[in-house]
Amino acid sequence: MVKKTESVIMIDLTQFNKDLATLGIKVTYTMVVYIGDTYRIITSKGEEIGGSREDKEKIIAHLLSKQPFLPITGEEMNHGYLFIETGLAADVMEKLKILLRSISFSMDKYVLEERMQSCSLGILDSAVNAIEAKDVYTKGHSDRVAGLAQLIAERMDLPYSEKEVAQAGLLHDIGKIGISERILTKPGSLTDEEYQIIKSHPEKGAQILEPLVMFKKSAAAVRHHHERYDGKGYPDGLAGEEIPLLARVIAVSDAFDAMTSDRPYRKAFSYDIARQKILSASGTQFDPTVVEAFNSIEEKKISSVIGSRA
Ligand SMILES: [Fe+2]
Repeated sequence: MVKKTESVIMIDLTQFNKDLATLGIKVTYTMVVYIGDTYRIITSKGEEIGGSREDKEKIIAHLLSKQPFLPITGEEMNHGYLFIETGLAADVMEKLKILLRSISFSMDKYVLEERMQSCSLGILDSAVNAIEAKDVYTKGHSDRVAGLAQLIAERMDLPYSEKEVAQAGLLHDIGKIGISERILTKPGSLTDEEYQIIKSHPEKGAQILEPLVMFKKSAAAVRHHHERYDGKGYPDGLAGEEIPLLARVIAVSDAFDAMTSDRPYRKAFSYDIARQKILSASGTQFDPTVVEAFNSIEEKKISSVIGSRA
């Protein structure tokens, strides 16, 4: 299953427990941590629950009236509270405050990174819209590829978060920003020179994303989404497992959406024909494990992402 981004926060709380043990502090606590619009409650007994913002207010009000607490406050905002038993010694309280400061610091960093990432993604999303506006035939293509890639990812054990899969799908053709509308929408066959220009888009896309650390995995998927499993793709002619797994997932999603969309030179294939074409290219163009995962997805789910074209 894909990893949830909340795990970033949970690592810090695991560390918190370790630090308490290292410092010889024995304390019974309930920790409430905010993660965006949701919250998580973790207790020293290892229980954990989460919920929405509305419930959070009620629970916090209840705990604040019952137990002593220390706020988990960073530079930017309050990230939550640590509720503790009454009557703790002053030196224990001091040590707890120091530990909470380090948690707050890493949560600040996490929040800041999240903001930067969503800001950068907003800009890149506008660039994707600009590309798709040049070519009516590809309108919505990147969103659909992202949706299909997520469906495949749900069926596989991928070392990527849901967000990384969605981003790679959304951004896979970002390199087309520098390619002229005339070439992108040309109805007839392309000249060799035009074909070479089109083929440069994975490398250009990766170059756009590489300076942004948070899109490192997306950049690799973007660069390699036109590689083939048999090594006959581009830009690097990578084969099999040399191709980043996320790129292999995007390749199947991209091909399926392209086949089930109208193009200047042909009408869309039906859902069944497109699925057959993907299956028949398993092991040559596509990674068989990705094809198998794709083939296990119910038609209803695929239709909910790409629309009904069966
Ligand atoms: Fe592409």
